[in-house]
Amino acid sequence: MSKIIAANFKMNQTPSETIKYASEFLNKKQNFKSKVIFCPPFTSIYCMAEKLKGSTAKIGGQNCHFKNSGAFTGEISPKMLKNSGADYVILGHSERKTYFDESNELIGEKIKAALANNLHIIFCVGENENERMQNIQNSVIINQIKNTLKNIEKNELKNIIIAYEPIWAIGTGKAISPEQAEEMCKMIKDFINKNYNHGQIKVLYGGSVKSGNAKDLFKMPNIDGALVGGASLDVEEFMKIINAAENI
Ligand code: 13P
Repeated sequence: MSKIIAANFKMNQTPSETIKYASEFLNKKQNFKSKVIFCPPFTSIYCMAEKLKGSTAKIGGQNCHFKNSGAFTGEISPKMLKNSGADYVILGHSERKTYFDESNELIGEKIKAALANNLHIIFCVGENENERMQNIQNSVIINQIKNTLKNIEKNELKNIIIAYEPIWAIGTGKAISPEQAEEMCKMIKDFINKNYNHGQIKVLYGGSVKSGNAKDLFKMPNIDGALVGGASLDVEEFMKIINAAENI
């Protein structure tokens, strides 16, 4: 099965830096067996989408509003994302929850609006360190899924990918073990299958994915790919992660 490798640039790169990155990336390879998705900042989406025309790589946003237009100063709508060349959007990232107070309910509304604009969703879930220490990670994640997806219809799930990102592993270099990540991705799939009667959901792992641990993660049967932060900003390193997925 081909894997999904998504890059979350977070708040990094100006448009000119993104164009340079995309040129370097395309010089190495243009077409991929895996699904490669770049999620740069809003200001880089259009130029990156233009640059990647002719490649199989896709573009996504890192957030969006739940309305298509209106008096929401500083916001970007899902319609704008789509028109800028994005096919995906990351929603529910723990950094949005921690620094911008996004609730599961708000994320649910954003998911609805993004789906209505024909965007595919990369929906992030994950427990914090304290919750992991108390061994309540499964119920924490199940509650996040239930509360966020409560207005999502079963037929909309085909356009949703879940990214399991334990908060304590994000940007810390402390990746979870492949076995632990596998167990969590399987738990999420079993939950979706049982409760939404949908057996095809894809689940990615995110949190300190690097070329050094990618292969062992991708060997796991229930890990369908990765959402890569820091390591995606380096063309060589990100290409190694993609190659690890393609050589499984
Ligand atoms: P890092 O790969 O930098 O740990 O970030 C993971 C992440 O948050 C991707 O969304």
